Amino acid sequence: MRSTDSMPERLITPLIIIALVLGTLWALHSINSSSVTPVPVPSVASLVPDMIPLVTGDEPITEIFTKAGCAVCHTVPGISGADGRVGPPLLLGVTGPRRLVDPSYRGHAQSVHQYVIESVIEPGVFVVAGYPDHTMPTWYGVKLSALALEKIASYLELQGIPVAP
Ligand code: HEC
Repeated sequence: MRSTDSMPERLITPLIIIALVLGTLWALHSINSSSVTPVPVPSVASLVPDMIPLVTGDEPITEIFTKAGCAVCHTVPGISGADGRVGPPLLLGVTGPRRLVDPSYRGHAQSVHQYVIESVIEPGVFVVAGYPDHTMPTWYGVKLSALALEKIASYLELQGIPVAP
C-alpha cells in the first residue's frame, strides 16, 4: 500500500524539474530570437515609410540621396554608395529631354526639373520602359521637404550631360 502511494510522489519531483528546465530553455530561446534583431541594412525590403527619416534638404546632397533610400535602387553619378540597379541610372540631363518628348508621356512636366519632381512624387505617371512599375515608393511626397525635392531636381537635371571640352 505504502509503496504504491509513494510512486507518484517520487515521480512528481523529476517532472517538476523537467518542466522547469523546458520552461527555462523556452524562455531563453524566445529572448534570443527576439534580441537578435537584424541590423537595419538598407535594402529594398526595408524601404517602408517608417524606416525613412524626413529629409529636410539641409543635408549634404549625398546624404539626401542616401537618407531617402534612392541610392538603394538608383545609380547616381557623384553620389558614393548610389549604385542601385532596380531603377534606371539617374542621368536626367540626357534622359529627361527624351521623356518629355516620348509619345507615351502623359505627365504635366514642362521641363526636366519638373519631370524629376513629378517622377519622385508620382512615380506612376511615367514608367521608364524596361523597368518595373509599382516599385519606386509612392510616399516620397510626405518624406521629402520642398527644399530636398528642389535640390534633388537641380542635381539630377545636370547628370549625364557630357562636359564640354
Ligand atoms: C525601391 C526602388 C526605388 C527607390 C527607393 C527609388 N526609386 Fe526611383 N525609380 C525606381 C524604378 C523601378 C523606376 C523606373 C520605373 C518608373 O519610372 O517608375 C524609377 C524611376 C525614377 C525616375 C525616372 C527616371 C527616368 O529615367 O525617367 C526618377 C527621376 C527617380 N526614379 C528618382 C528617384 C529618387 C530621387 C529617389 C529617392 C528620393 C528614388 N527614385 C527612389 C525605383 C526606385
